[in-house]
Amino acid sequence: MRPATEGDIDAVAAIYATEVREGTATFDLEPPPRAKWQQMLASAHPGDHFVVAEEDGVVLGYAYSTAYRTRGAYTHTREVSVYLDPAATGRGLGRLLYDDLLARLAAGGTHTALACITLPNPASEGLHRACGFEPVGVMREVGLKHDRWIDVAWWQRMLDAPPLPPTPAPTPEAGR
Ligand SMILES: CC(C)(COP(=O)(O)OP(=O)(O)OC[C@H]1O[C@@H](n2cnc3c(N)ncnc32)[C@H](O)[C@@H]1OP(=O)(O)O)[C@@H](O)C(=O)NCCC(=O)NCCS
Repeated sequence: MRPATEGDIDAVAAIYATEVREGTATFDLEPPPRAKWQQMLASAHPGDHFVVAEEDGVVLGYAYSTAYRTRGAYTHTREVSVYLDPAATGRGLGRLLYDDLLARLAAGGTHTALACITLPNPASEGLHRACGFEPVGVMREVGLKHDRWIDVAWWQRMLDAPPLPPTPAPTPEAGR
């Protein structure tokens, strides 16, 4: 497990494109442009991480954390995701990627991690449960892909992040 680099983008994009075209784990209907991955690599937010699983020089999977929503109060919440080459599933790599990613998030002060799982996806639910996530709600039929309506489950894990710094006292000029 290691941080992703520019040289990993083609492999990452290929893994994701397979799921976009053939699966329902993502609601993307077309593979995204290369710029999407470059933007993720370039993010300077302390809660944004992008890691890959590499074996013998081959990228077998990746995981990343991004903003859940961009409004300021969400800054200590990150949404996480993980994808493997279909040939590399069932070997513990998803777990290793998430262990690495979640440790980075906790160390960086992220308070809680969210994961959005399209249903059904027993492998993803199994992985998230094994990694300490809990289901917190289901949204019914919010996606339409491959000619069927698809539910989405949200899973959440609180992280053992250090306490927040004290909120600075407002200056008289600052108002409310
Ligand atoms: C979901 C995914 C990342 C899981 O990765 P993986 O390497 O196969 O999972 P692991 O081998 O690390 O298993 C992790 C846990 O999930 C469980 N699990 C894995 N596959 C499972 C399955 N098909 N059914 C039930 N549980 C499963 C394992 O038993 C393990 O739990 P344990 O540690 O208690 O034994 C992988 O299947 C994948 O890339 N799927 C396609 C993309 C996808 O769905 N991504 C998730 C988007 S939310």
